[in-house]
Amino acid sequence: MGQSVLLVDMDARGDLTSYFGVGTDDLEATVYEGLFDESVELGEIVVEVGSGLEVAPADINLAGATLLLANMEFAKRQQVVKEGLVEVGKSYDFVLLDLPPGLELLSVAALGAADEVIIPQQCSFLALHGLRQVQNSIERLQEANQKLRICGILVTMQDRRTVHHREVIGMMREAFGQLVFETMIPQTIRFQDAAIAHQTIMEYDPSSEAAKMYRAVAQEVLERG
Ligand SMILES: Nc1ncnc2c1ncn2[C@@H]1O[C@H](COP(=O)(O)OP(=O)(O)OP(=O)(O)O)[C@@H](O)[C@H]1O
Ligand SMILES: [Mg+2]
Repeated sequence: MGQSVLLVDMDARGDLTSYFGVGTDDLEATVYEGLFDESVELGEIVVEVGSGLEVAPADINLAGATLLLANMEFAKRQQVVKEGLVEVGKSYDFVLLDLPPGLELLSVAALGAADEVIIPQQCSFLALHGLRQVQNSIERLQEANQKLRICGILVTMQDRRTVHHREVIGMMREAFGQLVFETMIPQTIRFQDAAIAHQTIMEYDPSSEAAKMYRAVAQEVLERG
């Protein structure tokens, strides 16, 4: 959409980093150092991964963040992570933080710096319950970060043929209304194929239904933001 975007891998499993084929063994510093080593700025560890996208890579070292943060007071925790993210954010239109599932200390601190949350949601009945919990957690985090709001709930892995999916989507819309993005991402093998090629779906297969849907989501995000 012509925006400059930085993706920050905030998951110690480093899925986002491996997605783009970025090997961290040869890197001097990753998100862990960028956030917690005073001599390294997050902006310095950024890697370009094509089509104008940049990634701040992470690996298992980031698991150490939990221990570091656990020894800080809440306000200090939030401040350390926010400072790093806000500084690097000045150079981009959008900074997307990829958080792991669940709310560990690093995620809580990251949400202290965020303006908006996009909640990817698999299309299943059990996932609905988790969604309510995420919403409650975000409401609690708003006490510390008043700017924080849910941008939208993004339904993924949708299979339009099943009655179950139609029912779940109906329930989701009833419970969360406008929070659910109009656009839903269909289930398709194209995403796995794109990952093997280390490319986004926009590069891998720009004319596919999958790419079209993500472009529509981007449009919705721009309209809501
Ligand atoms: N719409 C889709 N259709 C088919 N496969 C998909 C789709 N979206 C994601 N996948 C596949 O599902 C797997 C998990 O996707 P992804 O890593 O994006 O999930 P995640 O939400 O980040 O998981 P986690 O919460 O554990 O970090 C990947 O192998 C990915 O290629
Ligand atoms: Mg993930």
